[in-house]
Formats: sequence, C-alpha cells, structure tokens
Amino acid sequence: MADLTADTVSVNQTIKKLQGKVVVVTGGASGIGEVTARKFVLHGALAVVIADIQDELGQTVVKSLGPGRSTYIHCDVTDEDQVRSLIESTVKMYGRLDVMFSNAGIGCLSQQTVLELDLSNYDKVMAVNARGMAACVKHAAKAMVEGGVRGSIVCMASAAAGQGGPMFTDYTMSKDAVMGLMRSASLQLGANGIRVNCVSPGPVVTPLLCLHFQVEAEDAENLYEAQLGLKAGKRMSAENVADAVVFLASDDSEFVTGHNLVVDGGFKM
Ligand SMILES: NC(=O)c1ccc[n+]([C@@H]2O[C@H](COP(=O)([O-])OP(=O)(O)OC[C@H]3O[C@@H](n4cnc5c(N)ncnc54)[C@H](O)[C@@H]3O)[C@@H](O)[C@H]2O)c1
Repeated sequence: MADLTADTVSVNQTIKKLQGKVVVVTGGASGIGEVTARKFVLHGALAVVIADIQDELGQTVVKSLGPGRSTYIHCDVTDEDQVRSLIESTVKMYGRLDVMFSNAGIGCLSQQTVLELDLSNYDKVMAVNARGMAACVKHAAKAMVEGGVRGSIVCMASAAAGQGGPMFTDYTMSKDAVMGLMRSASLQLGANGIRVNCVSPGPVVTPLLCLHFQVEAEDAENLYEAQLGLKAGKRMSAENVADAVVFLASDDSEFVTGHNLVVDGGFKM
C-alpha cells in the first residue's frame, strides 16, 4: 500500500508549467491561439513558434512577446509541405519539439443546414480544420518520435463536435473529424510516450466567431447567454481555454491521453 503521510505527499507549487519546452502554436496570430501563446511564454516555454497565414499579425504578436521568446513562421496548414517545413525549421532552430498546439481553424463560410450544404465551402472548411489538423499531428508526431521526445499534442476541436446543431454542418463535421484523429493518434503514439488530446471550447468571442455568426463583437457577447448552463457571472474568455491547453500541454496531465477536455460552461447548441 502506498505511503500517503504528509511527508510523502507534496503539492507542486511550480508556477511555470512549461519551463524549457519548445512549443508550436498553429493559428497563433489571433484569438485563442494568440492568448495561449502568451500563456506558454508566461509558463516559461523556451521557445514558442507561432505559425499562421496572417504574417503581419503574427509578427506583431512575436514582437509583443519579447525578444528571444518566440518566432513567427508562415504556414498554411492546408499545404503539407509548409507544415513539414514548419516542424523541420522548429527542430533545426531549437533542437526538438515538445508541444504541438494544433489550433488553426476557420468557421463556417455560410450558415446552412444539410439541405443547403455548399460542398465547395465544405471542402474549404475540411481542408483547414480536418486535413490541416491531420498534417500538423502527423509531422509533429514524426518529429517527436524521431527525436525520442515524449511530447504532448493538443488538437483544437469544439463543443460543436459530438453535439450536432441546427446549422454549421460542415464545421461540426470537421471538428468530429478532429476527434477521430485524436483518438486514433493517441492510441498509436502511446507506445512512444506521446500524448494526444483535444480541447473543445464553447463560444469565445474571436474574429472566427464573429464571421461564423455574421455579427459584430459587441453583439456576439450576448448571443449565447441562454445556451450556457453554467451561470458564472462573467463571460468565458480565450484565457479560460488557454488554461486548459496549458494543462494538457504540461506534466500536470502526464497520464491524460485520448481525452477531449470540454471548456464550454455547459453550452448546448
Ligand atoms: N471562438 C470560438 O468560439 C471557438 C469555439 C470552439 C472552437 N474554436 C476553434 O478555435 C480555433 C481558433 O479559433 P479562434 O476562435 O481563436 O479564431 P481566430 O480567427 O481568432 O484564429 C484562428 C487563426 O487560425 C489562422 N488560420 C486560419 N486558416 C489557417 C491556415 N490555413 N493555416 C494556418 N493558419 C490558419 C487564422 O489566420 C487565425 O489567426 C479554431 O480551430 C476554431 O475552430 C473556436
């Protein structure tokens, strides 16, 4: 029987949960990715590589994070060569990859039920959210396996996954695909000590959400109030999601794999 006396049980009071880790954040120029990149730096990451297609914004984020803490690399996740090159450059610059936060995504390009499903929009959404996610997980995992790194891969899904909803068919499908990828990859990579998990946020006001619902940020704030089961007395923010990602990225979750961490305040579609 384990000894659980006060002398043997300690609480980890280290604030910096990602000390010395090399991290890549796709879609890190804006929204949840940007806020999470900031958290990674605060938690002592050795390097945070921000990958995005919004070059100017990405460079601005890197500047604000302070010299030497972060780098911007242009990467369109729909192009496997760019994803391969992102990971290769990261390993070349910093020696290894410890954490991949595969977050880049787009919302629905049109609000639609299955009756109106626009399949060319469907292809665009799937190309980023599902195919791009697969390319990111594949190349991050290869770098970890080749480098002998017991790393953590966190995939961005959504509270929409697994629920279905009145609209947004292609987006919901793309996030269910992410869940399938995470479950398979977590089983396949376990032997290498690599963990793969998902984070699934409910609605957070970002440029994506505003486009998705075709509303201004001020109006978006009130859009969901009635659909949140948890009356927390304040709005959920990107920071709430970033905290969950830090947990999944760090050793705090060292035995968590194949898990979908929902951060949605009890949101129902
Ligand atoms: N905001 C929400 O309510 C919400 C809820 C659930 C899930 N999500 C997911 O969170 C992730 C981040 O979204 P956000 O809300 O922060 O929106 P956002 O628009 O602020 O951020 C998305 C980022 O991804 C980048 N991106 C888009 N296509 C890309 C591509 N092909 N290659 C590389 N980068 C690309 C964008 O340039 C942008 O910087 C997305 O995957 C989204 O589906 C968001």
